[in-house]
Amino acid sequence: MAAGLEARGRTATQVRLRRRFLRFVRVRPGERVLEVGCGTGVVVRDLVGLVGRRGEVVGVDASRLMLGKARTLCRESARRTRLTLRVADGARLPFAAGRFDAALAITVILHVIDPMLVVREMARVTRPGGRVGLQDQDFGVVAVTHPERELTDRILHGVAAHIYPEPHSGRRLPGLLRAAGLEGVRLQTDVFQDTTLEPWTKTFLERRGERAVRFGIVDAATARRWLDGFTHLVAQGAFVLTINYYGAVGTKSR
Ligand SMILES: C[S@@+](CC[C@H](N)C(=O)[O-])C[C@H]1O[C@@H](n2cnc3c(N)ncnc32)[C@H](O)[C@@H]1O
Repeated sequence: MAAGLEARGRTATQVRLRRRFLRFVRVRPGERVLEVGCGTGVVVRDLVGLVGRRGEVVGVDASRLMLGKARTLCRESARRTRLTLRVADGARLPFAAGRFDAALAITVILHVIDPMLVVREMARVTRPGGRVGLQDQDFGVVAVTHPERELTDRILHGVAAHIYPEPHSGRRLPGLLRAAGLEGVRLQTDVFQDTTLEPWTKTFLERRGERAVRFGIVDAATARRWLDGFTHLVAQGAFVLTINYYGAVGTKSR
């Protein structure tokens, strides 16, 4: 998963999506920003560049393994601002109320069993007037060309339902922020698009195929045929994959 996050982080369309979201949240120089579920630190490294020397970035993740990778990969960034990386559960953040100007969670909510607990905690540690921002894909809105449409839906929806507590989290983000008491909630919908089967997309589809076999959704021969279907479309210049990304931000009342 760590290698996958780094590969996704480097993919040009993903870089654009992430940075558009950070502009939408209006992360400014000098701010104290928390990222919940920081993984290997892809977003942390962007945040360091945005808050600058006078700012502070704190990344937390529930996985000790991920944080170990993040510490290595963010070593250079740690020289450019105050940066802390620590193991913590988003549902029980080890910070005082009002500690941050902004709290963000990027492609995390879909992994969480009770998202309200995490969003409420994010709101608690944000200062009055500060922002809480969430960005997630929505695996109910993946459009991909393939000669066997029913098989494609069965694999993509079936695997997503197995691996994510909430595969349709993207569309729920504004509602979650409002339910946590945030005000002035805004939504920005963006689209990841690939027409050439870039390395990250290829790995994404291969892993979906492997998992479909593991979860008993299809047999190995069907998964192989499904993956070959994409290669054929790329050769014809007819491959398209899009995934909707939803970014939502709200302000904590003063
Ligand atoms: C898909 S990764 C996203 C990493 C990073 N935000 C990015 O966009 O590259 C999701 C991360 O959320 C973490 N995570 C999941 N549930 C969490 C929770 N309750 N508290 C903290 N981290 C959590 C996982 O360990 C994983 O590293």
